[in-house]
Amino acid sequence: MKLTILGGGGFRVPLVYGALLGDRAEGRVTRVVLHDLDAGRLSAVGRVLAEQGADVPDAPEVTATTDLDEALRGADFVFSAIRVGGLEGRADDERVALAEGVLGQETVGAGGIAYGLRTVPVAVDIARRVARLAPDAWVINFTNPAGLVTEAMSRHLGDRVIGICDSPVGLGRRIARVLGVADPREAFVDYVGLNHLGWVRGLRVAGRDELPRLLADPGLLGSFEEGRLFGADWLRSLGAVPNEYLHYYYFSRETVRAYREAEKTRGAFLRDQQARFYEEMKRPDAAALETWDRTRAEREATYMSENRETAGAGEREADDLSGGYEKVALALMRAIARDERATLILDVRNRGTLSVLDSEAVIEVPCLVDANGAHPIAVDPLPGHATGLVCSVKAVEREVLSAAESGSRATAVKAFALHPLVDSVNVARRLVDGYTAVHPGLGYLR
Ligand code: G6P
Ligand code: MN
Repeated sequence: MKLTILGGGGFRVPLVYGALLGDRAEGRVTRVVLHDLDAGRLSAVGRVLAEQGADVPDAPEVTATTDLDEALRGADFVFSAIRVGGLEGRADDERVALAEGVLGQETVGAGGIAYGLRTVPVAVDIARRVARLAPDAWVINFTNPAGLVTEAMSRHLGDRVIGICDSPVGLGRRIARVLGVADPREAFVDYVGLNHLGWVRGLRVAGRDELPRLLADPGLLGSFEEGRLFGADWLRSLGAVPNEYLHYYYFSRETVRAYREAEKTRGAFLRDQQARFYEEMKRPDAAALETWDRTRAEREATYMSENRETAGAGEREADDLSGGYEKVALALMRAIARDERATLILDVRNRGTLSVLDSEAVIEVPCLVDANGAHPIAVDPLPGHATGLVCSVKAVEREVLSAAESGSRATAVKAFALHPLVDSVNVARRLVDGYTAVHPGLGYLR
C-alpha cells in the first residue's frame, strides 16, 4: 500500500507517520513517498521520520522526491497537506486584512479568501495529475481552506477526494466528555455545515440525545472550551454548539480588535517558530526527533494560551480529545482500505444532504465510510440563520473558484465583497490590491 504525502516537508508530517507506525493491521501502509517543492524541508522531515521508525519492526519505508508526477504514480492514497506561500503567506493573509480593519485569519474571512485564491490553482493542477497518473487513488485533502479546496479538486476527481478537519471530531469529543459519556467514540455527533462553519445540534448515545442536558446546565457549559468561548446564554439561544471558528462571526468586532492589538499574529508566530526548527535541522549532527518534538511541544503549549490566534489560539486543550487530524486521516484510510465501516465527519459533495445547496457543493457532515468511499448521512435541515451563513459563504467560495479559473480580478473583488465579514465593496477592492501586491501566487489575477 503506497501513500504519497504532498507537503511532505511540512512540520506535521511526523504526526502522520507516528499514526502509521501505530497501525499493525493487515492492509496497512507499507510505503510512504514524501513530496515537497523544498528539498531542504524534505530532508529535515525525512530525518525525523527515520528516527521515529528506527526501532519499529516493519516501519513503512520512506522515500522523498521533489518530482510531483513521480510521487503520484501508483499511489493508493494521496494525502494533500500543502501550504501555498508557506507560513510567510499566512502571516501576509492576516496582516493585509487586519490593516483594513477586517478579520485576517488562516481560513476565515478575507484571509481565508486570499489563501483560497492562491491555493485553488495549485490544488487543481494536483487533481488533474492524480486523475492522469493515479486514477484509482483516494485523495485525502487536509489543505486549507479545506472545504473550498476539496470542492475545487472534486471537479476533477469526483468523490475520490475527501476533505478532513480535526475540529468537528474534537468538538464532539469535548461535548461527550463533559456529558460523562464513557466512550466518546460511541456517540453520534449530529453536526453539519461547511468546513469551519458547522454546528453540533445533537449528540446521541444509544439513540438518546444528550445535548439538551448540556444546554440546560450552566456548570457543564462553563467547563469546556466552546462553552466558555461562546458563553452559556448564547449557546442556549442557538440551541446548538457551534464550531469554534464561528466565534469570528458571532464576536467579529472583538476578535478583530484583539488580533489588531496583538504583538504577533498566529501565522507570524508559527513562521518564526518553525523557521528555527528547519534552521537547526541544517546542522548534520542535530538530533532530529528531539528537535522536532521540542518545537511541537512549544507549539502545543500555545493551544492552551489565552488567545491562540495572537500568540498563538483559544483555550484548546492540547490533549488527545482534540481528535488529531492524523487520526482522522488514518481512520478514513483504514475504513476505505479494509472496508471497515466507520462514521466520520468529513468534507464531501452534498448530494442532496442540505437541500438549499446543489449536489456538487462540498459540505462537512457525518459520513458512513466503506470501501466505496464516504457517503453523507441524512441530517435535519439547518435553521434559517445557519442556512443564511452557509449559503453566503458557499457563494463566496464559488466566486473564488470562478476567479481561480478565469483569472478575473473583478470576480476576486466580488468574492471578498460578498463575504459577511467584509463590510464594504471599497474594502474588498483594496484587499485585492493589497494581496496581489504581496503574493506572487496571485499574479494570475488580471
Ligand atoms: C485546526 C484546524 C486546521 C487549522 C489548524 C491551525 O486544527 O482544523 O484546519 O489549520 O487548527 O492550527 P495552527 O496551530 O496552525 O494555528
Ligand atoms: Mn480544519
